[in-house]
Amino acid sequence: MESILVLQGPNLNLLGKREPGIYGATTLDTVQGLLEADAEVLQVTVTAFQSNHEGALIDAIHGAIAQHQGILINPGAYTHTSIALRDAIAGVAIPTVEVHLSNIHRREEFRHHSYIAAVAIGQISGFGAESYRLGLRALVHHLRMPLLV
Ligand code: DQA
Repeated sequence: MESILVLQGPNLNLLGKREPGIYGATTLDTVQGLLEADAEVLQVTVTAFQSNHEGALIDAIHGAIAQHQGILINPGAYTHTSIALRDAIAGVAIPTVEVHLSNIHRREEFRHHSYIAAVAIGQISGFGAESYRLGLRALVHHLRMPLLV
């Protein structure tokens, strides 16, 4: 059974309260509950970690070596700023899927660029809490049926 690390970046602890018009009313606990239910169906385990600190997220990525087979990450605003987070993902070489609640490409210009996208298998953006569920499914699909490149 594959083990998936679910990483949540800064301000996502406020999910449900934070700009609900953009991010929806679903809380982080609810998102995690949905992923746990999906994990059971997909026959994987999910471990959740949220931090508002860049270094803590990097440590969690390093800690995933030999522990987790995949990473599902919403890097929050670090998406647009963090070369260190990108290097950590590249460094551990664990298949990673990037997810966003909002469609970052139809928002402010500064959200259009992701430092993470180039080291991720792919990006799912714009489906609210459903982005995480789609991301988990895509990650498990990739782990079980790697694309030939
Ligand atoms: C976000 C999009 C980011 O631009 C923003 O900084 C977030 C949340 C999303 O899930 O839509 O914190 O990653």
